Amino acid sequence: MTDVPRLPVPTWFVGCGNMGQAIVGGWRSAGIDLSSTVVIRPSGLPVIGVRTVTQLADAGAPPRLVVLGFKPQKLDEIAPQLRSWVTGRTTIVSLLAGVEVASLKERFPAAGAIVRAMPNLPVAIRRGVIALYGEDADEKTRVEISNLFAPLGFAPWMADEAKFSAVGAVAGSGPAYVARFIAALIKAGEDRGLSNEIASTIAIETVLGTSWLAATDRDGMDEIARRVASPNGTTEAGLAVLDKGLGALLDETLDASANRGRQLAEAARLS
Ligand SMILES: NC(=O)c1ccc[n+]([C@@H]2O[C@H](COP(=O)([O-])OP(=O)(O)OC[C@H]3O[C@@H](n4cnc5c(N)ncnc54)[C@H](OP(=O)(O)O)[C@@H]3O)[C@@H](O)[C@H]2O)c1
Repeated sequence: MTDVPRLPVPTWFVGCGNMGQAIVGGWRSAGIDLSSTVVIRPSGLPVIGVRTVTQLADAGAPPRLVVLGFKPQKLDEIAPQLRSWVTGRTTIVSLLAGVEVASLKERFPAAGAIVRAMPNLPVAIRRGVIALYGEDADEKTRVEISNLFAPLGFAPWMADEAKFSAVGAVAGSGPAYVARFIAALIKAGEDRGLSNEIASTIAIETVLGTSWLAATDRDGMDEIARRVASPNGTTEAGLAVLDKGLGALLDETLDASANRGRQLAEAARLS
């Protein structure tokens, strides 16, 4: 049995909406002790198993780990207040899309280490992808952060911030794209006379089953498609249509997402 990692005491989540709660949920189901974790969010809405407060002043002792779980646009509202709680013993893990380490360093110069993490929603069920990137994180901090995110899925450290952004574009946003693909498959089934219940179940099971096959069978996507599509058969006729547009559409999709990331990065630069 592997050891259950311990969160630094105390750990703060500043902002804990969709992604913060996905991480908390994943940690909870991994058996990680959340009793010294505090969520700070203006609504004060409870997060299961974690003490929730509405302002930093009520959070208690200065944090050893702070997860920034608010929207990038909120950085300049929150950083001036949060800055006084950050010491050389604090590691900041930023989930903020686009915002570069250099911009975070300018806001939190006293922080012991600043790490960017780009998770995706399936961390909630511990099947996520979490890209990690840090310039000044020493080996001890890297091991500590790796140990915390590994129970939530695949958590690679990226060598540079550009590759970190690329993982974010594919994996961070990916569940939304895959959800749209599944929705389109469901609609296509419904349009052909299936009930919503049957169309939903077969679309989800088909994507799940194919993903499972792809993860266990290392022959690659072309080979999986080849095994489905017999020459001049029905699947091949369908692929001839799909292949005309899917690659270009995904390129365009990821380019749009990367452009927005650059805008957020630019907006967060102080100088
Ligand atoms: N969602 C994803 O799949 C995903 C993937 C990768 C990265 N991210 C990143 O994760 C971050 C959070 O995204 P999200 O989707 O979880 O957003 P979200 O659901 O809108 O949650 C935002 C959180 O920020 C809190 N907040 C707002 N103003 C605040 C303030 N002044 N002080 C403290 N907290 C404040 C909100 O509090 P209340 O709940 O009280 O309103 C809420 O808990 C973003 O930076 C995003 O780029 C998200």
